[in-house]
Amino acid sequence: MADQEIFSDRMLSLGLARVSEAAAIASAKLIGSGDEKAADQAAVDAMRTQLNMLDIQGVVVIGEGERDEAPMLYIGEEVGNGNGPGVDIALDPLEGTTLTAKDMPNALAVIAMGPRGSMLHAPDVYMDKLAIGPGYPEGLVTLDMTPTERVETLAKYRGCSPSDLMVCVLERPRHQEMVAELRATGARIRLITDGDVAGVMHAADAHKTGIHMYMGAGGAPEGVLAAAALKCMGGQIQGRLLFRNEDERARATKAGLTDFDKVYTRDDMVTEDVIFAATGVTDGSLVSGARRDGDFLETETILMRSKTGSIRRLHYRQNNH
Ligand code: FBP
Repeated sequence: MADQEIFSDRMLSLGLARVSEAAAIASAKLIGSGDEKAADQAAVDAMRTQLNMLDIQGVVVIGEGERDEAPMLYIGEEVGNGNGPGVDIALDPLEGTTLTAKDMPNALAVIAMGPRGSMLHAPDVYMDKLAIGPGYPEGLVTLDMTPTERVETLAKYRGCSPSDLMVCVLERPRHQEMVAELRATGARIRLITDGDVAGVMHAADAHKTGIHMYMGAGGAPEGVLAAAALKCMGGQIQGRLLFRNEDERARATKAGLTDFDKVYTRDDMVTEDVIFAATGVTDGSLVSGARRDGDFLETETILMRSKTGSIRRLHYRQNNH
């Protein structure tokens, strides 16, 4: 039936929030446990169960890995109860496994959904990323600029000095040079140990987070999820895949990519309107963490639709009588 095949993002959005809530609640039991794998597995199981209740014919395009390496929510897995529209799903049941295991901030359960064919099938390789929030001219800063040029351009546009800017960067040895260059400009740096989906989202909500720009290399799948978030929040992200060896190039070829040097903009990574839900696992600047306490549990979810630009914060609380 034609009507059934329309991607009704409005109707599906609450269902999507339930999916990320379920993953966060399940992994919350393992916050601070030191067991990353168990926390991830709990999130994966719960997300999959909840996802399969939705009225969709979904295909996981960004997931837990290739079919031979991920038993659940692998790339290409069909999800949903098969009754609704065909949709693409990008998910990360636990974005920040280490953050969760160590009870550090900003671990999220994340999922995005769009019409079939709307999301880049990014292979599991690194991606060089650059993101800024809404309100800037398109292409104000680019991946081809040096970190210094990016800082100077953004500061000039904002009419401030570089030291008024906060740049978010994953703390990794591969970023040492970039960090040194950024420091030489005078810009301040928020170093995060993990979780660059949240890192990019922080740049789209500078008033709340104090972060004006995100840059550096992280997972390509996380890049697509971040692009979905920014499609809803506003803001720009650019990404270029980084390959370390032939095996990684082969992954890209398998995913159907041909231009390995392409700079993907937000709208290249997510080509149509999407819905996006992220539930806090550990406390963070965007959402509070999931709480389980004897007789109740509580979560906070940010639920967004790019078609309308609507951003909802859902507080879920259940009393376990
Ligand atoms: P996990 O939740 O899978 O541990 O990923 C966390 C993360 O920090 C991502 O946010 C980021 O894109 C990626 O790992 C960076 O990879 P690496 O740890 O190899 O630098």
